[in-house]
Amino acid sequence: MANLSVNFAGIKAPNPFWLASGPPSNTGYQVMKAFDTGWGGAVWKTMGVPTINVSSRYGGVNYHKTRLMGLNNIELISDRRLSDNLRDIEEVKKHFPNHAIIASLMVQTREEWHQIVKDAENAGVDGIELNFGCPHGMCERGMGSAVGQEPRLVELITSWVMEVAKTPVIVKLTPNITDITETAKAAKRGGADAISLINTIQSIIGIDIDNFISYPIVGSMSTNGGYSGPAIKPIALNMVKNCALDKEIGIPISGIGGIETWRDAVEFFLLGAGTVQVCTAVMHYGFGIVKNMSHGLEQYMNEKGFQSVDEITGKALRHVTEWENLNLKYEVIAAIDQQKCIGCHLCFIACEDGAYQAITLPKDLTDKIPVVLAERCVGCNLCALVCPVEHCITMIKTKRGNEVETWKQRTEAGNIPSTFDDAMAGGLQHPSYNPNDALKNRQNDEN
Ligand SMILES: Cc1cc2nc3c(=O)[nH]c(=O)nc-3n(C[C@H](O)[C@H](O)[C@H](O)COP(=O)(O)O)c2cc1C
Ligand code: SF4
Ligand code: SF4
Repeated sequence: MANLSVNFAGIKAPNPFWLASGPPSNTGYQVMKAFDTGWGGAVWKTMGVPTINVSSRYGGVNYHKTRLMGLNNIELISDRRLSDNLRDIEEVKKHFPNHAIIASLMVQTREEWHQIVKDAENAGVDGIELNFGCPHGMCERGMGSAVGQEPRLVELITSWVMEVAKTPVIVKLTPNITDITETAKAAKRGGADAISLINTIQSIIGIDIDNFISYPIVGSMSTNGGYSGPAIKPIALNMVKNCALDKEIGIPISGIGGIETWRDAVEFFLLGAGTVQVCTAVMHYGFGIVKNMSHGLEQYMNEKGFQSVDEITGKALRHVTEWENLNLKYEVIAAIDQQKCIGCHLCFIACEDGAYQAITLPKDLTDKIPVVLAERCVGCNLCALVCPVEHCITMIKTKRGNEVETWKQRTEAGNIPSTFDDAMAGGLQHPSYNPNDALKNRQNDEN
């Protein structure tokens, strides 16, 4: 039977679903409600130096019919008094002693770090998270991502915290950096027990094109903010994978970024996360989403025979490699299921204009089903991605796909194309039409 409870770097919780530091974990009222609904832990809205917030402060990307595909915020850390937050933490802990409360903190000097870590621990938190990620406002004051972009500072401040911390310390990393493993390693060198990633991505969400102001608008001005929600999940997954694969890091990872469902969470576990944190999806749909997340994860674990989340963590990592190790001989081509096809021709348009001109329309247009030209198809997958009917286009492995040869092997054997016009270059194997054929219809009309 699946057991959802976790022990993450020494922080115990009834399940791996934690609120990420943000508006949903701003008050005791909210965290109490969240735990009551089923969340296993909460990283409290970052406490620290005093702030004043602006309004408005959020902007959203509504992509076609999907509302809030991405969220942008210019909110700062908690604008509540520290004493109010600490009092709330004590109260929640009384009712939920076995749930995880992690204090997210952000201050400046060594003395301030020492003091606030002690204050938070005295209030009963189970762990500390260092917010080295906020990409707006706080970084202008030398905190947040201003620290998180500088490995020396990450290491130094983490070591200050470790001088006094009695509970496990998680360092939260910013994605606004070329190589996140560098700051992850710095956190490890500073003594961190774990890392969490990602914080928001620096961004401008869109512009009011009538008034020439970017969103969110504050009076007649705006500023860049932090991007979160489903749109950032692929970036977060890649960064989690990079940290999980780096042997020098080797400490537990809490995965954050665009998580909305149990499937999203499982993807983060498979790439190396031991817990997940959620902010935007709770802002969008409320605390109730955790019910489906827990139920779905439990079912998945039972189906797959996993007893604990630990058994899922990192399971997909052995299937991730460098490009040079991929099999150049593995080959698939598209196949259209004639029974399922609704004749919309989106696959034809995509392949014709955006890929390899490997789909044609039948001459007799009473038959609307397109035809894949096997000899031209490079198996790029685009048609399957644009087809609106699920499983209508599948990619079928060819016989050639059974052989194995990688770029690395070819390099080692001195068997790689090395000049611009080398006959071995892959592109030469793909037939292409005469450029003038593109104008054929126009010429026919003119005639
Ligand atoms: C409105 C808002 C406020 C946030 N405030 C904080 C914060 O105070 N401290 C922090 O570490 N992260 C903060 N975050 C970042 C989230 O904890 C999280 O790292 C990020 O939003 C990505 O996760 P998501 O896609 O689930 O929202 C905030 C995010 C949002 C959207
Ligand atoms: S897989 Fe790519 S090349 Fe082949 S038919 Fe589809 S879009 Fe065209
Ligand atoms: S996109 Fe899919 S449904 Fe539309 S014509 Fe192509 S195969 Fe048929």
